[in-house]
Amino acid sequence: MGLATWQKINVEANSPYPVFLGVPLEELGEYLSSQIEEVEHILIITNQAVAELYSERLKQGLLDYRVNLLTVPAGEMEKSLERLSQLTTAALRCGVDRKTLVIALGGGVIGDLAGFFASVFMRGIRLIQVPTTLLAQVDSSIGGKVAVNHPAGKNILGSFYPPLAVWTDFTTLESLPWSEVENGLAESIKHALIADLDLFEFFENQEENIKQRNPSIWQEMVTRSSAVKVRTVSQDEQEHGVRALLNLGHSFGHALETEMNYHGVTHGQGVSIGIVAAAFLASAKGLMTLAEVDRIKHLLSIYGLPTTIKGQDPQALLQRMKTDKKNQGGRKILILPQGIGRTVISKDCTDSEILAAWIQVIS
Ligand code: NAD
Ligand code: GLY
Repeated sequence: MGLATWQKINVEANSPYPVFLGVPLEELGEYLSSQIEEVEHILIITNQAVAELYSERLKQGLLDYRVNLLTVPAGEMEKSLERLSQLTTAALRCGVDRKTLVIALGGGVIGDLAGFFASVFMRGIRLIQVPTTLLAQVDSSIGGKVAVNHPAGKNILGSFYPPLAVWTDFTTLESLPWSEVENGLAESIKHALIADLDLFEFFENQEENIKQRNPSIWQEMVTRSSAVKVRTVSQDEQEHGVRALLNLGHSFGHALETEMNYHGVTHGQGVSIGIVAAAFLASAKGLMTLAEVDRIKHLLSIYGLPTTIKGQDPQALLQRMKTDKKNQGGRKILILPQGIGRTVISKDCTDSEILAAWIQVIS
């Protein structure tokens, strides 16, 4: 491959796969022809905006293959059974069969939708993840979770379906609007807080470079944050243990997003406020100091992420947490930071402790 700076980290799971970082879209074809056997037909699934930006670059390297490109509209709504069914009809028209390889080109929505499609089409066809948002590069493309939503909830219909490889071209992030960068930063800072104090300090020290999108600093940020995800899912692919730590901030964040009906708060903002609530709860349980809570709040806020929310009812938010997927036998299972760079699973948080944490983040 041409670029001297690319790296490869392996996910060591039931079906191991490489995560390539800093590789050009144009060179995926060369990798496929040298490493993946019996590919003649490729189906690229993406959305219209990403297709306009990046499909030509990707296709330049795929001249030896029969290639079809299917686009879906942008948005979380597209992770639906209806869209999956329409994709299936369109795929059959393109002659997709069991030997076809699917390339999911886009953010987490495309990764989840195209990945779920690949997992169920003719009982599973091959998949490569090509993430183009910060969130997708550091988080959703790694770990094999694929899903569509159901009116009853997000990601209700899904599976674990590891790709053959993740192909990450950092240059695709140049076109990402800052509002989308924030969603990825929330997850990247979460990774630092969970398992990498050095990465947390990197975020503290590189504020200007990160805000100015300095390419080498972004490369380091994505690489180090992806590495936390790779390490975690390699230990526990199917979330029987440590993978649950990746949900730090999400029980609070999801409750907030649901309570606000997904309006007025983005996922990254929900995670940010959720991390702060979890940190307050951790300090109440003696797992961290209030000075560390302040340090976390400061880091999130310098990147424009909120640490409080106005006008919410803490009791209603507590009620929302009753349906969290992690709960066991009516008991709330929460992920709490233990200082900075370590995290624990807590099964003994009382409703009054959780309520007190909510009150701390409602302004
Ligand atoms: P997204 O996929 O909706 O992308 C956000 C927006 O960015 C879209 O409008 C898209 O068109 C645009 N976009 C994508 N790449 C671009 C680029 N390079 N330049 C300019 N615009 C670009 O959002 P997301 O934050 O990437 O993903 C969120 C989804 O990921 C949610 O559905 C969530 O459930 C899922 N997710 C999955 C996992 C997992 O493990 N499978 C983990 C975290 C999140
Ligand atoms: N984003 C959480 C996970 O992949 O497990």
